[in-house]
Amino acid sequence: MRGRTVLVTGASAGLGAAFARIYASAGWNLILTARREAALAVLAAELTDAHGVTVTVLVEDLADPQAPSRLVEAIAARGLTVDGLVNNAGFSRTTGFLQTDPAQHAAMLQVMLSAPVALSRLLLPGMVERGFGRILNVASLAGQMPATGGDTLYGPIKSFLIKASQGLWLETRGTGVHVTALCPGYTLTEFHDVNGSRDQVSSAYPAWMWQTADHVARVGYDACEADRPRVTPGAMNTVLATLGKLLPDSVALNIVAGHARRLKRI
Ligand SMILES: NC(=O)c1ccc[n+]([C@@H]2O[C@H](COP(=O)([O-])OP(=O)(O)OC[C@H]3O[C@@H](n4cnc5c(N)ncnc54)[C@H](OP(=O)(O)O)[C@@H]3O)[C@@H](O)[C@H]2O)c1
Repeated sequence: MRGRTVLVTGASAGLGAAFARIYASAGWNLILTARREAALAVLAAELTDAHGVTVTVLVEDLADPQAPSRLVEAIAARGLTVDGLVNNAGFSRTTGFLQTDPAQHAAMLQVMLSAPVALSRLLLPGMVERGFGRILNVASLAGQMPATGGDTLYGPIKSFLIKASQGLWLETRGTGVHVTALCPGYTLTEFHDVNGSRDQVSSAYPAWMWQTADHVARVGYDACEADRPRVTPGAMNTVLATLGKLLPDSVALNIVAGHARRLKRI
């Protein structure tokens, strides 16, 4: 893949940084974006030293509806062509629907739903035209469950991303563009520190249920290269996703209610 360029959102930490390392090790040049410039700069220097790839840092807040078009304009102004897009930036709020500031609801929808749609719509035409492209959307196991109590919008946002990825996968078949939704379960990143639930999730769920960011990102990268529309890393997560699909909603809702109570989210 030497000479190809991938845009990774949310590259300043966790899964985004892990994706950046995997793409760089495969010879891709990178465009890294997030809000924390210093973390992006450190990662960019690491990847250039380790793999001799070109790394461009573009700081953006994807909660701003104008951010996707600003990003694409900044990329074009540098004469870069985007062959791969990893829609990874994300966060959650576990305080319950009514206790969460409406501005935070809007930011969640913008960062994890509208920005991936906008970036895909802006970058996909070039990929189709050139006969090569990769879109990797980081969804969640939560998107395969009937609900995420206390974190009301998170599951539906991730369900949307799974369905939209599958639709795009269908529409781009035979064009050289691969589209994949990655559905991680519990992954060791900053995610649960940011949403303030680290203590609850660590005491509720044993270490064996957690996967490393490197492993999860590798599963996503390989699935996208293999043109799989959806992948759920880990046998336990695959079982849970299958149960979420097969069980009647009333039973599945009871199971997720137990999960939400254990985490003191409802
Ligand atoms: N960790 C898990 O257990 C888990 C499980 C399933 C799915 N996921 C999904 O995996 C993806 C990555 O999360 P992670 O686990 O790696 O979490 P993380 O370590 O907290 O990283 C989140 C990334 O998103 C970026 N981000 C957040 N808000 C942003 C904004 N407004 N504008 C631009 N960038 C923003 C952050 O960068 P800045 O703060 O620098 O902006 C950071 O780089 C998310 O979509 C998450 O929903 C995580």
